Amino acid sequence: MSGARATVDAALRKAILLAAASGGLRRFVDRYGMRLGAGRFVAGETLDECVDVLRSLNERGFHANTTILGESVVDEAEARRAAGAYEHVLERLAAERLRANVALKLTHLGLELDEELAYENVARVVDRAAALGNFVRIDMEHSTVVDATLRLYRRLRADGRDNVGTVLQSYLYRSEEDLRTLLPLQPNLRFVKGAYLEPPSVAYPDKRDVDEAFVRLVEAALDGGAYAAVATHDERLIERILAFARGRRLGRDRFELQLLYGVRPRLQRDLLDRGFKVLIATPYGPEWYPYLMRRLAERPANVLFLVRSLLAG
Ligand code: FDA
Repeated sequence: MSGARATVDAALRKAILLAAASGGLRRFVDRYGMRLGAGRFVAGETLDECVDVLRSLNERGFHANTTILGESVVDEAEARRAAGAYEHVLERLAAERLRANVALKLTHLGLELDEELAYENVARVVDRAAALGNFVRIDMEHSTVVDATLRLYRRLRADGRDNVGTVLQSYLYRSEEDLRTLLPLQPNLRFVKGAYLEPPSVAYPDKRDVDEAFVRLVEAALDGGAYAAVATHDERLIERILAFARGRRLGRDRFELQLLYGVRPRLQRDLLDRGFKVLIATPYGPEWYPYLMRRLAERPANVLFLVRSLLAG
């Protein structure tokens, strides 16, 4: 990407993430979003709709995970209901014999209200997953909750729960040090570039630095014995990591490739056809607004896609 184009994209990304906080925009998008084409990125508003999508992904050879969209819950009852809903999802995945696990956000389970409440909730979900032979991924959110997220992840592991993993974001300066301290746990980590608006005091402002840090993190994780979920749509980075894995003669059971539902479907298929484990992250639920806004910010051209859908009526 040229320097000028990268600068325009970075400015648009920031503008979309800032505009996302506007109540007026939210009301408009909430009202028309599904008609606007949000369904390209979200597998429906109900679990039934999502299960249909997961089944079709499995039938085509993909693994999947699902997330009940929701975040920043500051009501205790709501946070407990979210944990209950995840238990229900896990039971349904088992009943349907789907090759799918769950990925959740700790702020959906009450992290911003009370860390202890979030721990109780996440432990409950992880235990239900263990009983069903399944796995839970803890997504990573904005930089102010990274410490608490890693603390709860470590606590789950220290309490003997191994069917759980988390995420490191390569845009954060701190992630390489976080990885170093996590490696003794032989963790299952997803690596992403990072989707939130972060200040240069905590995150690389230049995309090239984010990309280089991404490769460094995955390589260090693989060398350090971790299981790596390489979550990017960036073909160039994927190929660099695959070449590294070949060079180190790493088995294909040491890593998987993860992409988002609706993003670069041809790349998803190509990677699958080359014999890699490919997991499609497939969220659902009525609270899709912040998720959709992050997807638009990642590729401002997606805004045009939505506008075209609206005009097409
Ligand atoms: P980059 O943005 O450089 O894009 C590479 C290529 O893919 C470009 O051609 C681009 O146009 C295309 N592309 C990227 N995003 C697109 C989109 N939305 N629509 C269409 N094309 C797109 N973040 C986070 O902070 N915490 C988390 O827990 C997660 N979890 C997560 C799970 C999975 C499975 C994925 C794939 C991603 C995440 N992310 C995330 C999001 C991540 O941080 C990042 O914002 C996106 O993956 C976009 O960056 P890329 O790595 O794809 O690279």
